[in-house]
Amino acid sequence: METLETIKKRESIRGYENKEIEKEKLDIILEMSNKAPNAGPFQITVIQDRDILKELNDITKNFMLNSGNEFFEKRASTPGYEPLYGAPCLIIFSAPEEGFGQINCACSATTMILAATDLNLGTCYVVSPIIALSADNDITSKLNISDGFTPVCGVLVGYPNGEGFPVERPQIDNINYI
Ligand SMILES: Cc1cc2nc3c(=O)[nH]c(=O)nc-3n(C[C@H](O)[C@H](O)[C@H](O)COP(=O)(O)O)c2cc1C
Repeated sequence: METLETIKKRESIRGYENKEIEKEKLDIILEMSNKAPNAGPFQITVIQDRDILKELNDITKNFMLNSGNEFFEKRASTPGYEPLYGAPCLIIFSAPEEGFGQINCACSATTMILAATDLNLGTCYVVSPIIALSADNDITSKLNISDGFTPVCGVLVGYPNGEGFPVERPQIDNINYI
């Protein structure tokens, strides 16, 4: 039952306290992320360096503002919007492009998110910094991602500050019974 409560409780958090995650909690969510269903290699990069987080935030915002994509440009121009939402930790999942890399990363990220929710940490699944990264070799080289691995998705982790950037959850109606 507790698991169902955790799944219900999870929501994307878009505003974080200026507070590091305790090492014990970080270790647990990393351990749990490797309990996910898996069909091949992937790599997890934990970024807590504030300067790199700021650089990633700014590169992402700049990329969104100049992307030519209406959704990105509108969101990035909204006053107060910062794509990393002040999170003290960004975890990047990377995998080889061939095989099931994207699926492996998504399984692991989701499992990590649920573990973090259970520990009362806030999370947000993010792809915008990953898209921005792929267009910027300088920052990618600072992340020590193994040769042959490409960033697939990211998870922001931290304590919610209760003032998150507002985004409405989409309504989903997608179940067919045959
Ligand atoms: C593939 C994927 C990419 C996402 N990228 C972003 C992102 O870059 N920034 C963001 O704020 N949220 C991002 N989200 C979070 C979704 O906006 C969010 O999960 C959705 O609105 C449902 O809301 P909830 O997570 O609060 O239930 C992403 C989610 C997925 C699955």
